[in-house]
Amino acid sequence: MLKIAVFVSGSGSNLQSIIDNIEQGKLNCRIEAVISDNPKAGALERAEIKGIRTYVLDKSIHKEDFGDKALQIIGEDLDLIVLAGFLSILKGEILNTYKNKIINIHPSLIPNFCGKGMYGRRVHEAVIKAKAEITGCTVHYVNAEVDGGAVILQKIVKVDTCDDADTLQEKVLSEEHKLLCKVLCLIEQKKLLNTPQGVKILEEVI
Ligand code: GRF
Repeated sequence: MLKIAVFVSGSGSNLQSIIDNIEQGKLNCRIEAVISDNPKAGALERAEIKGIRTYVLDKSIHKEDFGDKALQIIGEDLDLIVLAGFLSILKGEILNTYKNKIINIHPSLIPNFCGKGMYGRRVHEAVIKAKAEITGCTVHYVNAEVDGGAVILQKIVKVDTCDDADTLQEKVLSEEHKLLCKVLCLIEQKKLLNTPQGVKILEEVI
């Protein structure tokens, strides 16, 4: 069983997809804690309803030491930290303690439309403005560089001529929910191999 912590900032639809997949028996995982940098995050209520321990490290107070405080809360023994709609930049010792054990879901096909300031609806506005024909979502490892860690898995989403930032966000978010849980399953089944050439997915674990 994969023991995880989920860091959130917003509505928590990605967190909800993890909760739902666990309850449906599709994901052998236990959420040990949900930590938010936003006291008003809807994700907190989604966790509390399920009896999952929640913590708030308000970014207006913990901008610099969020990572350190979060590490104190979760300890060093979890299998994975999942950034699910988490908007703060994670820094400090937690990046070393959980090296290659922190993943993030980003609403574009990295390396396009990512980096500092590119989050949420802004990403989809940029895709529409650029008249891109495709976009999508990416699950990647987290390191000190914003959206800079190795890409694990991506899902392409076609941009239709009738799309605007809102319809695109809805289409991509729906795929994020599936992609994030797919990656969690691969990690739980030990089917991800980190190599200098990038992340390999093992079809069958021998
Ligand atoms: C969404 O923009 C999503 O693309 C990104 O974080 C935002 C909120 O997600 N990953 P959530 O509903 O809080 O999971």
